[in-house]
Amino acid sequence: TAPELVVVGSLNADLTARVRRHPAPGETVRGDALTVSGGGKGANQAVAAARLGARTAMVGRVGADAHGDMLLEALRADGVDTTHTMRDHGAPTGTALITVADSGENNIIVCAGANERLSPHVVEAAEAVIGAARVVSLVLEVPVATVVAAARAASEAGTRVVLNLSPVVELPPEVLALADPLVVNEHEARQLLAAGAPDDDRGLSTALLALGVRSAVVTLGERGAVVAESGRVEHVPAVPTDAVDTTGAGDAFAATAAWRLGRGDALPDAARWASRVSARCVREPGAQPSYPTLDAVAEAARC
Ligand code: RIB
Ligand code: NA
Repeated sequence: TAPELVVVGSLNADLTARVRRHPAPGETVRGDALTVSGGGKGANQAVAAARLGARTAMVGRVGADAHGDMLLEALRADGVDTTHTMRDHGAPTGTALITVADSGENNIIVCAGANERLSPHVVEAAEAVIGAARVVSLVLEVPVATVVAAARAASEAGTRVVLNLSPVVELPPEVLALADPLVVNEHEARQLLAAGAPDDDRGLSTALLALGVRSAVVTLGERGAVVAESGRVEHVPAVPTDAVDTTGAGDAFAATAAWRLGRGDALPDAARWASRVSARCVREPGAQPSYPTLDAVAEAARC
């Protein structure tokens, strides 16, 4: 059966050290237990959606190494179709060096490795799957040409495009115009709008619409999210929670929204689901290890 959601994007091994506070330049600080877990904005989305019960496929590239094995196993353990997750014999698996401070804030350095070699050919090979899916979700830790190819393939087949422009890069306007929605955090929205960025949350999301996207979601951390589509702007409050580690919470947000949109939800409803799921993620360490099942989301809503 066809997947509901196809994610085209990155896979990284997340090497995470907990620290009391982040080191200043030139400073050495002591870290607690070092963990290695599944990450990467693309793989995070795939795992987040699959764990909620979405039929999901991942298009990406890992190295022929132990981290690649770990990431593929993690995807498969959650039932993600990895037919189009390729192995690269000439580059290592992407790696993220992460420090998480007691405050819950993180710093991340990403070494792209095999992600950088995810070529548009892989998208061509996955065209049938992309075309059969309800939604394709795209992230920018892979080459722009590949994202462009995936967005075009999806739109030609009538598959909805969710574009998480993270990190922010320049895209051809006609590709930006396919985003429905464009999902960015506040920081990314400001980067994208540069000098023209308005101060207020609602203004930010409508300014994104003015860039030509079909709809936009700006995530605002503790302040929730603002969704904008033609003629309507709505603030979706955050679900109050104690943040232990916010790594990958944005990816879970985007994936949940994409999945709910594929199931026919209106954008504000999809964003409310996404807020509930991401609030649940930040309560536990790591990206993929912290993603909840549907039962866990329901349980969190009760207490
Ligand atoms: O969004 C969080 C992710 O960003 C991490 O899992 C890390 O791998 C980086 O890609
Ligand atoms: Na987490």
